[in-house]
Amino acid sequence: MKLGRNMVPLALVGLGTSLILLVVVVVVGIAWYSNPPFGLGDAPPQPIAFPHTVHAGAPEQGGQGIQCEFCHRNVTKGAAATVPAVEQCLFCHQQVTGTTETARVEIAKVKASFENNTPIQWERVHRVPDHVRFVHEAHIRFFTEGETPETQLPVSQVCSVCHGDVAGMTVVAPKPGQSLKMGTCLDCHRQNNIPTDCTVCHQ
Ligand code: HEC
Ligand code: HEC
Ligand code: HEC
Ligand code: HEC
Ligand code: HEC
Repeated sequence: MKLGRNMVPLALVGLGTSLILLVVVVVVGIAWYSNPPFGLGDAPPQPIAFPHTVHAGAPEQGGQGIQCEFCHRNVTKGAAATVPAVEQCLFCHQQVTGTTETARVEIAKVKASFENNTPIQWERVHRVPDHVRFVHEAHIRFFTEGETPETQLPVSQVCSVCHGDVAGMTVVAPKPGQSLKMGTCLDCHRQNNIPTDCTVCHQ
């Protein structure tokens, strides 16, 4: 077919649209294949500077030594570990108002969130894509209630396998060199004779 005079602009519009589509495909492709996918990157900025060191750190190191599962209550019970609601912070922060200027400022934000009835919008640090199934409970149970010393670890040590030493982190960041990619999951499943069929992790 010969292009009529008034079809040239149309052809150009078509070309422009294809170029835009191509750019979109490339950008999405890069985002999909690059490490990290879906924000499994560095520590995102948090609305309140909540230090794990102060709360979960050992008392010898000036921390409160609070158990991980005291705050992440669902971690031994279900799929998600869960982050505590502000009510749970007020257990202590009704009284504990802070000894340093930063502590007082940050703890005041916790109290304000409680009083204004507005949940703290914590940013997720670790997240697998929606097509992946992950269950905390099964993993914690396996490594705490097994028959061998390697499967009778204290809970906090099990968390460290995937998350690093969170008790020693002022700001939670993914474990260096370990971004919970499929390869990491598969390596450990193979080592422990856990099925690696696609359907174990993908619906
Ligand atoms: C079991 C008690 C306890 C619980 C529960 C608790 N905290 Fe704390 N928190 C403390 C203590 C003790 C300090 C140290 C205060 C100080 O001496 O300055 C502290 C300090 C802080 C600080 C200031 C840290 C700094 O030094 O800059 C923030 C922010 C904070 N807590 C937020 C929270 C949030 C948010 C929660 C709920 C998710 C929470 N806390 C739950 C006991 C607790
Ligand atoms: C006093 C309550 C408290 C205790 C104790 C606590 N955490 Fe947390 N944790 C939080 C809060 C609040 C957040 C969300 C803010 C942040 O990411 O720092 C969080 C975030 C996290 C995250 C990142 C979640 C995400 O978005 O991917 C991990 C991992 C984590 N905690 C592990 C631990 C481990 C391991 C321990 C024990 C060594 C522990 N926590 C002890 C309150 C607590
Ligand atoms: C086998 C690896 C593994 C272990 C062990 C593990 N986690 Fe996780 N954790 C993950 C993965 C993967 C995600 C992201 C899950 C998602 O996106 O659904 C995650 C997410 C989280 C989150 C944020 C989302 C949520 O589930 O609420 C918290 C908090 C957390 N973990 C705390 C802990 C604590 C505390 C422990 C130890 C008691 C622990 N994790 C042990 C792999 C692990
Ligand atoms: C440190 C070793 C380790 C790592 C890392 C690990 N797993 Fe597992 N996983 C296990 C073990 C052990 C079991 C068996 C638990 C049991 O006995 O039920 C398991 C079981 C599972 C199950 C079946 C749970 C159920 O109850 O149906 C799923 C799904 C799963 N893992 C997903 C993942 C995903 C996704 C990742 C990576 C983000 C991952 N795992 C990383 C060791 C690991
Ligand atoms: C033990 C858990 C586990 C098993 C088993 C597993 N996957 Fe995955 N898979 C993951 C996780 C976690 C991700 C997301 C992180 C990533 O992209 O590495 C993923 C991502 C993917 C992706 C997206 C790739 C990308 O770059 O985002 C594909 C495709 C995939 N898996 C296919 C498979 C196939 C096919 C099988 C079976 C041969 C399989 N998976 C078995 C955990 C698993």
